[in-house]
Amino acid sequence: MDPRLQLRVQRYGWDRASDVYDRAWSRQLAPAQDLLMEMADLSKGEDALELACGSGLVTLRIADAVGPTGKVMATDLSEGMLEQARKRSQATGAGNITFQRAGAERVDVPEATFDVSLCALGLMYAPDPNAALQEMGRALKPGGRAVAAVWGERRRCGWAEIFSIVDRRVETEVCPLFFQLGTGDTLRRQMEDVGFQRVTSERISTTLHYSSPDVAVEAAFAGGPVAMAYSRFDEGTRSEVHQEYLESIASYGTNGGYRIPGEFVVARGEWPPRGG
Ligand SMILES: C[S@@+](CC[C@H](N)C(=O)[O-])C[C@H]1O[C@@H](n2cnc3c(N)ncnc32)[C@H](O)[C@@H]1O
Repeated sequence: MDPRLQLRVQRYGWDRASDVYDRAWSRQLAPAQDLLMEMADLSKGEDALELACGSGLVTLRIADAVGPTGKVMATDLSEGMLEQARKRSQATGAGNITFQRAGAERVDVPEATFDVSLCALGLMYAPDPNAALQEMGRALKPGGRAVAAVWGERRRCGWAEIFSIVDRRVETEVCPLFFQLGTGDTLRRQMEDVGFQRVTSERISTTLHYSSPDVAVEAAFAGGPVAMAYSRFDEGTRSEVHQEYLESIASYGTNGGYRIPGEFVVARGEWPPRGG
């Protein structure tokens, strides 16, 4: 897929998803975000860069962890998602966050500025995840650390059929690299390839809870990465894709809703110290 097209599909798709995102995903993503925060092990006074900050679910936690003497630069490709994050930050009165609209591959920050760089569930959408990891390193002071969370193996994510269902109806794949980083030890190896040292990674199982078919369908189609394609489907196509998706998750049905298995991988690495 043409990288520029992928960026446009993601940017404007997430703009559309931004109103639905928190309702659809905040509970489901919490286990990955919790582990990311634990592995980042932030301290008061640190400066943090966040890529793909979305609606700010993690951003506010980072801002709280580094406190008023620390700073957060939160970036995302989608203005709609940043708008949600700004609102969240204003509502809590966090005064130490700056926002920037930027793709993960190129953020407008000087080199060697941050103690920590973080990315929760954003690298899967970048046309060039290696460039995004490199950017997380470039921004770090010598000896700084980066932590990234991605979805795990495709076969362990019970909702994964969503991509083939949508891709069958569009000209180019919506998210061609989605499961790449979460497969085997790819995330750890790619962090090492761009220069991180002492890289460790953890893989955790999770369960996505949906109380009804409507809630599951909204999260899958309107609240995430296929939102752009979905917005262009007519009513007939929408009901076809809903039906196909619900069939694909039928075996996880329980009490009128669903408990769908999933998996996350979270990795942490250190940028070489000066002279290292
Ligand atoms: C699943 S959300 C994660 C948001 C947030 N980090 C969280 O944990 O809730 C994915 C985010 O990645 C952003 N995104 C997609 N492609 C991107 C890219 N190439 N560069 C930066 N952000 C991107 C989307 O706009 C969206 O906000």
